[in-house]
Amino acid sequence: MDLRIKSFDEYKEKYKQSVDNPDGFWDQIARSFIWRMPYHTVCEWNFEQPDVKWFLGGKLNITENCLDRHLEQRGNKLALIWEPNDPKERFVRWTYRELYEKVCEFANALKAQGIQKGDRVVVYMPMIPELTVAVLACARIGAVHSVVFAGFSAMAIADRVNDAQAKMIITADGLNRGAKQVPLKRVVDEALTHCSSVNKVIVYNCLDWSPNMAPGRDLWWHDAVNGMAKECPAEEMDSEDMLFILYTSGSTGKPKGVVHTHGGYMVYTAYTFQNVFQYEESDIYWCTADVGWITGHSYIVYGPLLSGATTLMFEGVPTWPDPGRFWQVCDKHSVNQFYTAPTAIRALMACGDDHVLSYSLDSIKVLGTVGEPINVEAWRWYHIHVGKERCPIVDTWWQTETGGIMISGLGNLSPMNPAHAGYPLPGIQPVLLDQEGNEIVENGVEGYLCIKHPWPSILRTTYGDHERCRVTYFSHYQGHYFTGDGAKRDENGMYRIIGRVDDVINVSGHRFGTAEIENAINSNKIAVESAVVGYPHDIKGQGIYAYVVCENIPEDQEVARAEIIETVVEHIGKIAKPEKIQFVSGLPKTRSGKIMRRILRKVAEGEPDKLGDTSTLLDPQIVEEIVSGAL
Ligand code: WT7
Repeated sequence: MDLRIKSFDEYKEKYKQSVDNPDGFWDQIARSFIWRMPYHTVCEWNFEQPDVKWFLGGKLNITENCLDRHLEQRGNKLALIWEPNDPKERFVRWTYRELYEKVCEFANALKAQGIQKGDRVVVYMPMIPELTVAVLACARIGAVHSVVFAGFSAMAIADRVNDAQAKMIITADGLNRGAKQVPLKRVVDEALTHCSSVNKVIVYNCLDWSPNMAPGRDLWWHDAVNGMAKECPAEEMDSEDMLFILYTSGSTGKPKGVVHTHGGYMVYTAYTFQNVFQYEESDIYWCTADVGWITGHSYIVYGPLLSGATTLMFEGVPTWPDPGRFWQVCDKHSVNQFYTAPTAIRALMACGDDHVLSYSLDSIKVLGTVGEPINVEAWRWYHIHVGKERCPIVDTWWQTETGGIMISGLGNLSPMNPAHAGYPLPGIQPVLLDQEGNEIVENGVEGYLCIKHPWPSILRTTYGDHERCRVTYFSHYQGHYFTGDGAKRDENGMYRIIGRVDDVINVSGHRFGTAEIENAINSNKIAVESAVVGYPHDIKGQGIYAYVVCENIPEDQEVARAEIIETVVEHIGKIAKPEKIQFVSGLPKTRSGKIMRRILRKVAEGEPDKLGDTSTLLDPQIVEEIVSGAL
């Protein structure tokens, strides 16, 4: 099933069709999948409640579309290539038939451990092929997977397990990441002291570490699959049955469980994968993300496998054993499409050009970026040194909530403009709104980025709290999905994403809510109160700057800082460490007690001369103290 658009003119034509007749457009695409029972209605929706359903009445299982249907023609084609952390170790290559058998075998193991349709299973694993197996095995039996990135702390796992009321955790003894190893099972054990819903833990033996195994609760992966059949009939799912929950941060304290479903997510991830990357049958495709994030779900696992592609999975990091690692892997496996994050590009750029210049990179046809706005300098470096000025760069804008890529170039078909995501994909109707919620229709403007018509992989709800979904995404601007981003539309109608306009900080392409970090900091007794803002960071895009109010400014600030950092690491994980911590005696607040973050942001950005109007402040003195103590 080739879903590819093959020219920019065809794109324009398809785009028009998709707006004039969305149902007809998506029906044409959805037909090419395997449905146990065809849907009777393409889409029903309102953005008020919100209530969005796609492919109503359809019955299917996404894994039949990822695996079973390829067996006849692509049974011996490589489904998955796994490149280990250590280049000296052996890599893994599995055909579609092999992947199918491993998924079935593990699906049977899950059933044998009592997992049933609808049960939630948390997956906390290294970037190993078994992670893909675990995810697909859940989907095969209709269990809902919730992957938690293996950099999150025990408390962060516990929050997610409890929110989802997960029955099982799938993990490993530990993981390799560059020169480091991380004891995953130990973190899970600690998390489980705060959870009561989990009664089984399956542990993959990755490092031969002999972790603690609680009798009756914990069992080894290899024991769980022992004797299991390599065939497992897929559970018949409704289009709108839950496929997975993925937790993501927002502007309020607690991460939300974004819910995606079988039918719509399947259609949209496959369609966008093939079009954005212009994947051709014998290509080898590599996305460097982690399956713990939406990028890994949609564009390492589901999109590529639904399309019968060969997807490469990498366990390691870009800079180990040296900053040429990505390029070495590209040459070693003859990678044709390479998809990474601006933060990785900037980090490698800072290591000098020699590391990239020693590889040919001849096989690459399309480059991609995702996660945050890419600055022009990094874009050019990527284009010149990695793409050899020959490869298009697709700058793909989307979100955990959108499930798939929304605004992006399509391989080499679309016009390119550095740092511009470009044009919306067919089926996507973005609009820019002003403060009052009026649509700005002309070009050459800037506004709040919203979407006015649903697409198949839009989030359906936030798990266990539909009202929160409504308030967060559908209440700001009536009748629109609000993205939380600001954007510009240039004279040619191309979109350039400016960044978040809410209290979300994007650190190395990962989202953190300021409130989430503040809650963590405030749990430390040093802190009376705190305020967290983002500031521009050369490599990470944004860094975390924390203002911590103390009764008495600590004498040894270094020790106090280390303590605050430790608390954040405990609550969220190392990835959320504040870069800068300034101890202050108070925060700038309005008379009604609202923190004036605008001022804190300007100070953190190093622009204390641009504070704007401070006349409404309760205590203007505090601003002077903050400015003079800025880091
Ligand atoms: C936020 C979503 C979806 C993949 C990874 C991040 C920012 C994402 C781009 C891009 C500018 C981008 C936005 C968005 N973002 N891609 N190409 N250009 N900004 O997923 O954690 O859900 O974060 O990432 O601000 O809202 P996420």
